[in-house]
Amino acid sequence: MQVNSALVKVKNRLLVKLCIDEISPKIDIVSQLFYQELFHLNIHLKTIFSGNVTFLNRKFINMMATFKNVKHLEAIENSVEKMGERHVLHYRVQLKHFPTLKKALLLALKKHLGERFNAELEAAWHEVFDDVAEIMQRAIKNCDPAKITEITSNESDDDMGLYEDIGGEAAIQRVHQRLYDALFDEPWLEKFFYGKSKEALIDKQTKFMIAAFNGPNNYTGDTPAFVHMHMFITEEMLDVRETLLRNAILAEGLSASIAERWLKVDQSFRMAITKKTVDECVLKCIGQLPIVAQKPMNYIAPNAAKAK
Ligand code: HEM
Ligand code: HEM
Repeated sequence: MQVNSALVKVKNRLLVKLCIDEISPKIDIVSQLFYQELFHLNIHLKTIFSGNVTFLNRKFINMMATFKNVKHLEAIENSVEKMGERHVLHYRVQLKHFPTLKKALLLALKKHLGERFNAELEAAWHEVFDDVAEIMQRAIKNCDPAKITEITSNESDDDMGLYEDIGGEAAIQRVHQRLYDALFDEPWLEKFFYGKSKEALIDKQTKFMIAAFNGPNNYTGDTPAFVHMHMFITEEMLDVRETLLRNAILAEGLSASIAERWLKVDQSFRMAITKKTVDECVLKCIGQLPIVAQKPMNYIAPNAAKAK
């Protein structure tokens, strides 16, 4: 019996390794699916998984590398424990995040592999994930509780009442209508929106922000890092958009304090989108070019409206 279960373990670890070998040429696509699922399950994990698409992909590849090398997991327990400690002390990961990450990973694999992700392979992934997670979680539980509290209490304070305070979906939709009216007419930023459907963007942005404001999560699109990965969007452009968004919020009759709370959430996505050079753009397919918008000559940035 024992020999049997040891053999099943060996087989499962091999199946997972072969699965990772199979997805390797398309790892960026699986990574994109993974983050899409992960942030759909818990949009606040974006504060843990920050950074642009290159960083996100690298993090995903690192995690996959661990699962690929579990043939002798018991022999590398020490280093897996250390990794667990790093997760809680440096990356602010909590025990409750493990099931979410596992679910997102399995969903992404299922979407990517379709029927090839059969019951046998799924069971193998469950076991391998749980074996690795168990060692990491044991190390997390053994970490100095004082240190952990210090770190997790700094966790970005989710503004729980914001969705209701803004006035729900209809108010958010109206602000976005104003924002995109302004963006489509903005002499510099309009270049990104040629040929795009304003209505679709308003709808997606509204669903996305409702989830980010802790309202119902009905957003099924990509995360900001992936949506904008081929667009050369600079800090200065994001400043322009911020002014337009603040103006839109105030023009809808919302207060200055609501505007600041809204902008705090919106701006938390900056890191995922902003790029310092055009080389940081990641292209979706061969032949695609980065979207670059030259600043028009004599450009004048929009003025900030005064709060009433
Ligand atoms: C069995 C589960 C997991 C494995 C095998 C794993 C593996 C790894 C590895 C190998 C790295 C590279 C950096 C390092 O070695 O310290 C990493 C980074 C990271 N992991 Fe995990 N991880 C797991 C679970 C989680 C969970 C549950 C979360 C949070 C939801 C998480 C969040 C992160 C983040 C944010 C980083 C990047 C840190 C940075 O470079 O900024 N991981 N993980
Ligand atoms: C100057 C800054 C920005 C520019 C120029 C910009 C531009 C765009 C463009 C052109 C699209 C359409 C993409 C496509 O259809 O292929 C888009 C989609 C989107 N953007 Fe932005 N964006 C900016 C900032 C932001 C920020 C800060 C956020 C988040 C708070 C955001 C969230 C989204 C979302 C949720 C979508 C829809 C994604 C989907 O199609 O599923 N954007 N953006």
